[in-house]
Amino acid sequence: MTTDLDTLRGELLAAIDAATALDALEAVRVQALGKQGAITGLLKTLGKLTPEERQEQGPRIHSLREAVTEALASRKAAMEQAALEARLASETVDMTLPVDGVAPGSVHPVSQVMDELAEIFADLGFAVATGPEVEDDWHNFTALNIPETHPARAMHDTFYIAGEHERPMVLRTHTSPVQIRTMTSQKPPIRIIAPGRVYRSDSDATHTPMFHQIEGLVIDKGITLGHLKWTLETFLKAFFERDDIVLRLRPSYFPFTEPSAEVDVGFTWKDGKRVIGGSGDAPGGGWMEVLGSGMVHRRVIEACGLDPEEWQGFAFGTGVDRLAMLKYGMDDLRPFFDGDLRWLKHYGFSALDVPTLSGGVGA
Ligand code: PHE
Repeated sequence: MTTDLDTLRGELLAAIDAATALDALEAVRVQALGKQGAITGLLKTLGKLTPEERQEQGPRIHSLREAVTEALASRKAAMEQAALEARLASETVDMTLPVDGVAPGSVHPVSQVMDELAEIFADLGFAVATGPEVEDDWHNFTALNIPETHPARAMHDTFYIAGEHERPMVLRTHTSPVQIRTMTSQKPPIRIIAPGRVYRSDSDATHTPMFHQIEGLVIDKGITLGHLKWTLETFLKAFFERDDIVLRLRPSYFPFTEPSAEVDVGFTWKDGKRVIGGSGDAPGGGWMEVLGSGMVHRRVIEACGLDPEEWQGFAFGTGVDRLAMLKYGMDDLRPFFDGDLRWLKHYGFSALDVPTLSGGVGA
């Protein structure tokens, strides 16, 4: 009996070792531990033995069963590990290889232009700031020197949020409330841009109820209109990728800047299309408004708890969709937000075409 058990153990362990596939291993398991298995058969004999024999044989048979069970489990684990390793080896992806140019989808021109703007202004030391699209009227209007009775509130066809709120809530009508949120949450000097969605109840070929703006704000000591003009000129040259950009600052009015200026860029006509660049006063040329801007009004600086004798700055705001239309030649704004795949395919950008100053922000 003893030799039988040792022989059986040797045979089973050898068979387990020799199994090269899971089904072969399963066959060994059935042969040893299945209903008709050798070890199962041995266990059944225990009942017929005398107590003395049982005391001797019992532990041996149990130890055999344990050894075989363990060997089966470890062989199975080794096979599974080997299978996983083989699969990992055969399914490697080389992330450094270029994609084959059929990457699905494309980057929307609004996202592309926002990335371009962030890249240009990051190079000038501006951080990106954000604020909520559902805004309270203090940030959207009051702190920007637009009190309740001010006619400028009517200038923006505001969407109000229904219901009782501590302060009336609106869908922000411009990105200028981010000026307030930034000045009340961080210490000057401040240099930020704030891109995002804004909302006005307005709709035609060049207006949609939701559109995109980008705000710029600089707060520091001794800031002048000269800094504003240089910054805008540098930005527009980088954006349109032309050195011959000519700006015209036209006196204007915004409640939150004083003085205020609307900024025009010169363009010329080429093949029936407007091409940005050159003086708008040149023969055949013209001026196109691209930005609102000005020196931050002292009341705005005060509303944010800063001393206007110590801190000054400039701000500007412009429509991102409009910049995209000018640069990439779309003449209707509405399809920007229709989600028509043909339009997106035509005007979209490759996800691999990341704007960089060295590689070109709009190539
Ligand atoms: N918020 C203004 C608008 O929506 C633009 C602007 C921003 C003007 C900052 C001046 C300074 O028209």
